[in-house]
Amino acid sequence: MIRLGVLVSGRGSNLQAIVDAIKAGRLKAQISVVISDNPNAYAIKRCEKEGIECKVVERKDFSSRKEFEKELSRILKEKGVELVVLAGFMRVLSGEFLKNFPDRVINIHPSLIPAFQGLDAQRRAVEFGVKFSGCTVHIVDESVDGGPVIVQAVVPVLPQDTPESLSERILKWEHKILPQAIQWFSEGRVKLEGRKVIVEGARYGELPVNPALEIFPCFR
Ligand code: GRF
Repeated sequence: MIRLGVLVSGRGSNLQAIVDAIKAGRLKAQISVVISDNPNAYAIKRCEKEGIECKVVERKDFSSRKEFEKELSRILKEKGVELVVLAGFMRVLSGEFLKNFPDRVINIHPSLIPAFQGLDAQRRAVEFGVKFSGCTVHIVDESVDGGPVIVQAVVPVLPQDTPESLSERILKWEHKILPQAIQWFSEGRVKLEGRKVIVEGARYGELPVNPALEIFPCFR
């Protein structure tokens, strides 16, 4: 079973989606540790409730980003983590950190990247007036939300949408594509060819999720 380290900074609804998928038997993985860089993150409460080990590692307690990241790596290695999942983790990780987990750090982002990379993606999508947006799970590289795409889900943007209503519509799909992407890693089916990710044996070409979901029914 693949051992996960989940990094969070806030609400933790994606962390909860991973926990729920594991509990439902859809996702064959174990969460070895959760690390929050924010002592007030609601995600910490979720860990307490679920009996998951959670460590708080604050940037301010380290003299440099390098030292901060060293501590993150140390904990993740100590716990035998095989896949690092950024689930609403609000920091950019350096190449030096990523080298410790080559192509084994993934992130969920609430847009169809490369559109609206960075902060406030849903608000910027509404303000720009795009007619579709969505969410992406990608492998993390040194860019901000620009690494190789594993899976994307598309949602319509409506004339009356606010950043909040669009966020809510997108979030439902985040909670499916993130556990699904982890399951593909756990099955050893994620292959990186150049900067293209191929999920071996996956069904490509359908909407709204490409490649298609396997562990969840698509329309629900
Ligand atoms: C999500 O919208 C995710 O895509 C983004 O940060 C948000 C985290 O939400 N990276 P949560 O903490 O998982 O509820």
